[in-house]
Formats: sequence, C-alpha cells, structure tokens
Amino acid sequence: MRTLVVFAHPDLAASRANAALAEAARPVDGVTFHDLYAAYPDLNIDVEREQRLLLEHDRIVLQFPFYWYSAPPLLKKWLDEVFLYGFAYGTNGTSLRGKALLVATTTGGAEEMYRPGGFNRFTVVDLLKTFDATANISGMAYEEPFVVHGTLRLDDAELAVHQERYRALLASGVPRERDLAVA
Ligand SMILES: Cc1cc2nc3c(=O)[nH]c(=O)nc-3n(C[C@H](O)[C@H](O)[C@H](O)COP(=O)(O)O)c2cc1C
Repeated sequence: MRTLVVFAHPDLAASRANAALAEAARPVDGVTFHDLYAAYPDLNIDVEREQRLLLEHDRIVLQFPFYWYSAPPLLKKWLDEVFLYGFAYGTNGTSLRGKALLVATTTGGAEEMYRPGGFNRFTVVDLLKTFDATANISGMAYEEPFVVHGTLRLDDAELAVHQERYRALLASGVPRERDLAVA
C-alpha cells in the first residue's frame, strides 16, 4: 500500500506535536510525506502535480493541527483546487474511488473538552465530518480519525506514545474499521 501524507502546518518551526508525528511518519516504508507549506510557500498549488500524487497512492492521510475546529487554510485551498469536478466527483470524477482517507490531527484542547455538553460541545470526530462527507462524495473509504488531544499539556513520554501509535498506523497499511465498503 502506498500512502501519501499531505501535511499542512503553517509554522512547522514552532510545532512540537506535528513535528514529532512528522518525524515518526517520514521513514515509514511506503509513505510519501508531502509538506504543503514547504512545497508552496507562495500558496500557489500545482494542481496537476497534486492530482498525480493522489493517483500514485492508495491511502491519503491529511495531517494538520486543529485550527478553529478545522484545518489550516492551505489544506482547504488544496481541497478546493485539487478535488475538482471530473476528478474527485461528478461526471467521470472517479479518480479517487476506492482509495482510503485518514485525517490525523492534534488539538490544543483536552479530550474532555470535546464532548457533547462540554466546553467545545462536539467531539473532534463530529467536527471532522466535512472530511467524512468529502471522502464519501469522492468514493473514498473514510477511516476513523487519528487524534492527539491536549497538545498543550503533553509531556515527552506521552508524545512518544502518540508517535509510535501514528507510526504503527501508517506502517500497518490496514484501514481502520469504519466505512470500508466502497461501491
Ligand atoms: C490559529 C489557531 C487556531 C487554533 N484553533 C484550535 C481549536 O479550534 N481547537 C483546539 O483544540 N486547538 C486549537 N489551536 C491549538 C492547536 O491545535 C495546537 O496548538 C496544535 O494542535 C499543536 O500542534 P503543534 O505543536 O504541531 O503546533 C489553535 C491554534 C492556532 C494557532
């Protein structure tokens, strides 16, 4: 299985959690690690290149820090410009069909803040449902998101556990349980 990690962090130099996860992901066999902000410092996305990369991989991982309950802006721009009608959806838009989509994100807020009735009212899995819907319209199998909560308080040992969890998930190449039957 060939895995493409599409990574979006606007300030990697200041990152701790995503930098650690990136360090765990880069050497995994079969993983292409694609840093969007490094590839496009001017934010001008090469759409053909991105579509080619998608075609060359079976599992697409979107890795980013949670910003305002969603992804940083370059990842949204990437979706807007790359997941085109006729490519990702619509008439003849079958290029991504049968691939898997996994979101891997980190939140400043602790897990208990992301519960119904809690501080943020919704779980991260619920807040990520636009990605679930995007996978659905593109005929992709949406995997259970990989979430690291509470980055502000993670100690080094806990971060190392998450690094290993992420490495193992990418190395397994086996999509997690949800929604794997794609027509
Ligand atoms: C612009 C911005 C928006 C953020 N929005 C959220 C948010 O909605 N929910 C949350 O839990 N944390 C939020 N955070 C905190 C980040 O998610 C957290 O700092 C990040 O996951 C840590 O990862 P890093 O060490 O790789 O930067 C935000 C941070 C920034 C800079």
